[in-house]
Amino acid sequence: MAESKPTFYITTPIYYPSGRLHIGNSYTTIACDAVARYKRAMGYDVFFLTGTDEHGLKIEQKADKLGMTPQAYVDKMAKGIKALWKKLEISNTKFIRTTDDYHEKAVAQIFQQLQDQGDIYLGEYTGWYSVSDEEYFTESQLAEVYRDDNGKVIGGKAPSGHEVQLVHEQSYFFKMSKYADWLRNYYQEHPDFIQPASRMNEMIKNFIDPGLEDLAVSRTTFHWGVPVKSDPKHVVYVWIDALSNYITALGYDGQDDSGFKKYWPADVQMVGKEIVRFHTIYWPIILHALGLPLPKTVYGHGWLLMKDGKMSKSKGNVIYPETLMDRYGLDALRYYLLRAMPYANDGIFTPEDFVDRVNFDLANDLGNLLNRTVSMINKYENGVIPAFKPGVTDFDKELEAVSKQTIANFKKWMEELHFSDALAEIWKLVSQSNKYIDQTEPWVLAKRDEDQEQLASVMAHLAASLRVIAELISPIMTHAPKEIFHQLGLDEPIDLKNLDIADLPAGAKTVAKGTPIFPRVDVDEEVNFIKTKMTTNTKAKGRSAMKAAAEKQFDPEETNLKLTKKEVRFEAFEKIELKVAEILDVKKVEGADKLLQFRLDAGDDGDRQILSGIAKWYPDYQKLIGKKVIIVSNLKPRKMRGQISQGMLLSVEHDDGNVELVTVDSHLENGLTLE
Ligand code: ME8
Ligand code: MG
Repeated sequence: MAESKPTFYITTPIYYPSGRLHIGNSYTTIACDAVARYKRAMGYDVFFLTGTDEHGLKIEQKADKLGMTPQAYVDKMAKGIKALWKKLEISNTKFIRTTDDYHEKAVAQIFQQLQDQGDIYLGEYTGWYSVSDEEYFTESQLAEVYRDDNGKVIGGKAPSGHEVQLVHEQSYFFKMSKYADWLRNYYQEHPDFIQPASRMNEMIKNFIDPGLEDLAVSRTTFHWGVPVKSDPKHVVYVWIDALSNYITALGYDGQDDSGFKKYWPADVQMVGKEIVRFHTIYWPIILHALGLPLPKTVYGHGWLLMKDGKMSKSKGNVIYPETLMDRYGLDALRYYLLRAMPYANDGIFTPEDFVDRVNFDLANDLGNLLNRTVSMINKYENGVIPAFKPGVTDFDKELEAVSKQTIANFKKWMEELHFSDALAEIWKLVSQSNKYIDQTEPWVLAKRDEDQEQLASVMAHLAASLRVIAELISPIMTHAPKEIFHQLGLDEPIDLKNLDIADLPAGAKTVAKGTPIFPRVDVDEEVNFIKTKMTTNTKAKGRSAMKAAAEKQFDPEETNLKLTKKEVRFEAFEKIELKVAEILDVKKVEGADKLLQFRLDAGDDGDRQILSGIAKWYPDYQKLIGKKVIIVSNLKPRKMRGQISQGMLLSVEHDDGNVELVTVDSHLENGLTLE
């Protein structure tokens, strides 16, 4: 009987299915996939979990706005997310949805148990809630507060920048405070629990030292969630519901808990830095209260940012994985993401950097190495790979030494989740191999009879090195390694655990003519392509009259606002005046189905009229009266359908093409200028 393999359990966050996933979410999932593939190749029995976080107010509201039931909405979105991961060749073992029946049952059960044992009690909650973050804040945690004339706080913003609202409600609470000391000790005794270690210090300083507050773990103001068994007007707080996925997916508290027994505790739980707190404070405490062991490591990686900060549709800087993959291949996308994000810190995506990586690292360095090697083996050895003989020349010895180092360091970096460093390590061997060709000058050896043996050894070394490279990149790239093995006529896969350059099988037959695995691309053309994609992502399929009108009015040379939203000089931005305005009245424009005619108070000399092509999205346009919006107030007035339009209303466009006006809090005075 085969010996049973050691197990390895890795998880991604379960993503909110409330919008289209971008390259940020793809980063986490691809990183986990690389670890899963690496561990499998190292002989582990791997369970790799991902999924969707489908309950909560945000989803309920979103579905409502689209006129769908929450269930129909999440069904549609989850299907899209599954399809995306399939396209990115994510090798997850399971995909959990928090609306899965077994999960809901287990969550209700977990809540009940915590209640029965006295960790959860009924109380009254007062605090600030951010719908977008699904998170409560105390006043002191808010990044910004709005006050009335008496100084009383009447609103504010969460650290994420999202608006918060005051909530008063009956709620169940979890006694987090009871476990604060235990948690502090646990951190001390398990210094590897939170990676990178700096995040552990942040947790202690920001949350544990000031005193852990009990956590409100139920809501009564909406219904899209798991009902509390003993008191079903409450639904379980979405984070308790969501975090539990990591154990319910394995069968915890379900019909068959053999998976749970086998794989828990998780080895690696990977998350973005903004949710480290949930995973290293609440999650450990819940597990401990349930009498369960904690995950071995929670790794909080940094964010993938754009030059102008976080990705957002309104900034017009969102990149979707499909855009890059469809044009440059899946390997290029997977390679880029893992290479560009440094360990622990934030990474920055730029089209230029992406195109450079494709051209230099992939086409030049790796692609050429394969091409040169295959064509030389064809030319000098009739396409048959000669036997590998170790260390004849100093150049051979150096290449062998680098390959050993690379294999060892690559494994070390992968174990420590340093993906960029692991890839950099492989590229040391790629460079060394290219250098080896220059050093040994096979075309010179080919001319002299007495050098034929050495020539054969050089060819064997190159093939052997490529074999090592192909094996090492296999967890990250899913196509190139197959192609390398194929062109060299080698079988795959190899045993990563015992990988050694010297184990090249002799006599393999290379393909007669190699084809480039990574074609070079034109820099200017492709940078432009990516930039255009970034901005068209935010454009309506048929652009709205409003936007088209706005574009006409700007001088494109001066503002660069045309088609590609290139960077603009600050002077150009400064010329645009944005103001808060209140909608006083709105009506349809006769003979123009798409247009709404707004009368606004922008705090200036009275009424301002703006025409906007958004009628389609506001059948109940009268409800807009009294709302505060943002206008571009210094656009040159223009006539549309015989009517004057004095400015433009700012709006956002959703994934499904729906357009929504940007509204602001009602306490902002009409005419305030944004800066
Ligand atoms: O927070 N750079 O889901 P979410 C890197 N449902 N990673 C990014 C990223 C970026 N720019 N943007 C997103 C939730 N991510 C909860 C989680 S878990 C029990 C519940 C990745 O859809 C990163 O992993 O907002 C981040 O933590 C996650 O997506 C947030 O996904
Ligand atoms: Mg989030």
